[in-house]
Amino acid sequence: MDAVDAALAAVRAAHFGATLLLFGQLAYVLAVSPGRRPGPELSRIAGWCLCTAFVTALAWLLLEAMHMSGLPAAQALGADTVSTVLAQTQFGKVMLFRLATGAALAVLLFRPAAAAPGAAAGGLAGALLAALALTGHAADARGAEGAVRLLSDTAHLVAAGAWLGALVPLALVLRRALRGDETSRGEIPRVLARFSMLGIACMALILVSGVVNAWYTVGSVAALTQTQYGRLLALKVLLFWAILVLAAINRAILTPRIVARRDQEGAMSALIRNTLLELGLGLGVVAVVGLLGITAPASHALAAGPAHEGHEAHEHASTPAAGYTPGLGEIMTLQQMRHAKLWFAGAARNWELADYELDELREGFDDVARLRPMHEGVPVGEMAGKLTAAPLQALDEAIKKKDAAAFARSFDQLTAACNSCHRAAQHGFIRIQRPAAPPVSNQVFSPAK
Ligand code: HEC
Repeated sequence: MDAVDAALAAVRAAHFGATLLLFGQLAYVLAVSPGRRPGPELSRIAGWCLCTAFVTALAWLLLEAMHMSGLPAAQALGADTVSTVLAQTQFGKVMLFRLATGAALAVLLFRPAAAAPGAAAGGLAGALLAALALTGHAADARGAEGAVRLLSDTAHLVAAGAWLGALVPLALVLRRALRGDETSRGEIPRVLARFSMLGIACMALILVSGVVNAWYTVGSVAALTQTQYGRLLALKVLLFWAILVLAAINRAILTPRIVARRDQEGAMSALIRNTLLELGLGLGVVAVVGLLGITAPASHALAAGPAHEGHEAHEHASTPAAGYTPGLGEIMTLQQMRHAKLWFAGAARNWELADYELDELREGFDDVARLRPMHEGVPVGEMAGKLTAAPLQALDEAIKKKDAAAFARSFDQLTAACNSCHRAAQHGFIRIQRPAAPPVSNQVFSPAK
């Protein structure tokens, strides 16, 4: 794992954590707190969560731009790469939507004389959280499988957020009650009854959607132990079981003691301790989720092993086109050559040659759409058109105008598009960059005199 990957995992985890906790604060107000009264700490906690979510979203976007473009930081962080990621990748569009949602939520919660948060705030926080599912592995799947996976990822996130986030106000109201606050003490039995309903519903949803998710991303028991993704997932499940054990103790032993006023003080402080422990374990799960997001799903990692060759052969055999049809890898190797030649033609201001190479690149992507529209279940044909259209168009304009600066900018955009497709097609390890030396020595790149 390189530094960008490590930073990406950390930033993702912090962002998930803040978004989950934010939603849970509102879920507590709406579903647990008697009379839907927010606790006195709500606006401070929500403010922190929103700020953290915002800062980590920006960091995530910049890291993703570096990751997708394969450019060194100084260039990747240029406005062009970032705007390409925002405008042309699914990740970017989802992040734009989420930035808007977060801003609306901030206005709703913090405008002067804001009323207690209601369903609208809960809905916005829920959308902010649920849309994260569109940045994960499930978003790459298509058709019915894609719909099932997205739905289950969404349910997983919303349930985890409602439960994890609600632990915070729960611990706070318990602490107030323990310190002798009469109102808080009076609400405790109702709070505990409602929280345990919320908890059971969330745990059930987390369990079911987690199994669905693992079914698709892991695929086999072997993958659970033999791949990095599988091992991380096993760790996540282990942490979740520890949380379930704590939750069972709370419900079966501590809650009845508090309600029946048997050693109420002792039971309450034990419950606060367990709640904080659950919160800690829950945040541990979120840290693992940060790593999972940058790890190739196990089902894919194993498929890319020895079985991969057979799979490829099968794909060739089932292609309807008569005669020899190049595989996607072969078309890509040609694209790689054209990409490099295009750069040196442009750098030498040989606009005629650049125009020619650009046409070749276009034809190469057309070949992908025509000959290899699907690759390992990913609709690469459709993606090739969508992702490369804008940078190819920009290159075309730059070449027509003989504008070297615009050429370099749009070339980097094209490179970012190459890389974002690789990532979307689970081939993020193939990273393209500006070439440093001409790919061949037997061709002249400078214009003829
Ligand atoms: C439509 C999505 C998509 C786009 C756009 C795309 N690629 Fe690829 N590329 C792939 C996939 C998928 C593979 C893996 C193919 C395989 O598994 O054989 C790949 C593989 C490659 C490889 C590895 C080939 C090999 O066998 O070593 C290179 C190099 C490559 N691409 C270069 C590029 C360049 C350069 C661009 C942009 C000009 C580009 N790709 C744009 C999807 C894409």
